[in-house]
Amino acid sequence: MDNFTYHNPTKLIFGKGQIDALPNEVKSYGSKVLIVYGGGSIKRNGIYDNVLAKLAEMNAEVFELPGVEPNPRISTVRKGVEICKNEGIDFVLAIGGGSTIDCTKAIAVGAKTDADMWDVVTKKVEAEGALPFGTVLTLAATGSEMNAGSVITNWETNEKYGWGSPFSYPKFSILDPTNTYSVPKDQTIYGIVDMMSHVLEHYFHQTTNTPVQDRFCESLLITVMETAPKLLNDLENYEYRETIMLSGTLALNNMLNMGYRGDWASHNLEHAVSAVHDIPHGGGLAILFPNWMKHVLDDQNVGRFVQMATRVFDVDTAGKSDHEIAIEGIEALRSFWTKIGAPTRLSDYNIKESSVEIMADKTVTARPEYGNFKVLSKQDSIEIFKESL
Ligand code: NZQ
Ligand code: ZN
Repeated sequence: MDNFTYHNPTKLIFGKGQIDALPNEVKSYGSKVLIVYGGGSIKRNGIYDNVLAKLAEMNAEVFELPGVEPNPRISTVRKGVEICKNEGIDFVLAIGGGSTIDCTKAIAVGAKTDADMWDVVTKKVEAEGALPFGTVLTLAATGSEMNAGSVITNWETNEKYGWGSPFSYPKFSILDPTNTYSVPKDQTIYGIVDMMSHVLEHYFHQTTNTPVQDRFCESLLITVMETAPKLLNDLENYEYRETIMLSGTLALNNMLNMGYRGDWASHNLEHAVSAVHDIPHGGGLAILFPNWMKHVLDDQNVGRFVQMATRVFDVDTAGKSDHEIAIEGIEALRSFWTKIGAPTRLSDYNIKESSVEIMADKTVTARPEYGNFKVLSKQDSIEIFKESL
């Protein structure tokens, strides 16, 4: 493996009723709190009232930014930055899924710079600091609750990019599995696909001697696959929600990829699709990831695919070539996702061949090549998108 330094400063507060910890966690940062949330799910399921009651215990002065979109917009980030600067906000609290948390990260960093946040997202300007912020997670998927990454969309230019900085780790994240009971079936499925995709992005790398990391990845994939079908039949089961919630966090808190760099081409492809068509991230990944696998599979890297096929999907190897075993593993992944109800083709979202060129352009706007397991170009994007129509 490569040399590495691992430092994750986010305090994870996990379990039923852990919202009680909120006032103590926030109060050392000050009393002016901006709460950031999405389109209203937290009002319907009672989380909003619970959080406000806890903030009242510390006599917080609460400001609100509702309406964060799935695939959060830079325009919403700018609104939040303005509130922070105008009101002298001390602490920002995200209440929601990855979109709300990512938006909050950008707001917190935006509050500490004179630059426009889109210049930070596009890496023209470096982050200089951040207001302290925390999260109350309501959807298990992205891992944003315990990493420094944030994905922001510019709807005027149809661009969607991930960015991050040492300042964009949450101070704490409160993960109560009961807060995910109300996540509808489709969003639960997208979350499951997303967390599995994060593990798979890590798993496909070129660094040698990563046996511990490989086994961690495989165990997470197997656990999520064992739990997902049970959860989808029983959406308010505490133990299943708990297992999936922890899995989502561990899949992308960068513990799995200590000492190596994963691939991330499938995420680049998906971000290009959702920048143009505004589809759910996990839905896009379910369509694209297996096709990326088939596209990059070759004689040099077939071993990694065989390892996945045999260790994760129990593919029977007798009488088969490595290539056949690899393909069977990829098919098993596709079939698992299809079985739990994930989409399989871009046409499921009404995306047609006429979009391929523009989406492929978006995969290489930030840089001409992408992917670490196998380096890809715009032509590869075109082929993978066509295969996915
Ligand atoms: O907006 P509200 O009304 O809250 O509804 C949301 C939204 O419609 C709903 N929801 C959330 N919690 C709920 C709930 N509905 C009922 N009950 C609850 N408890 O779910 C919908 C989707 O929410 P969203 O936050 O968009 O989903 P997710 O967590 O999947 O986040 C997706 C975003 O994160 C980015 C994606 O690209 C996408 O923009 N990603 C962020 C990453 C990161 N920061 O590390 C990594 C990922 O790979 C990903 O790219
Ligand atoms: Zn993802």
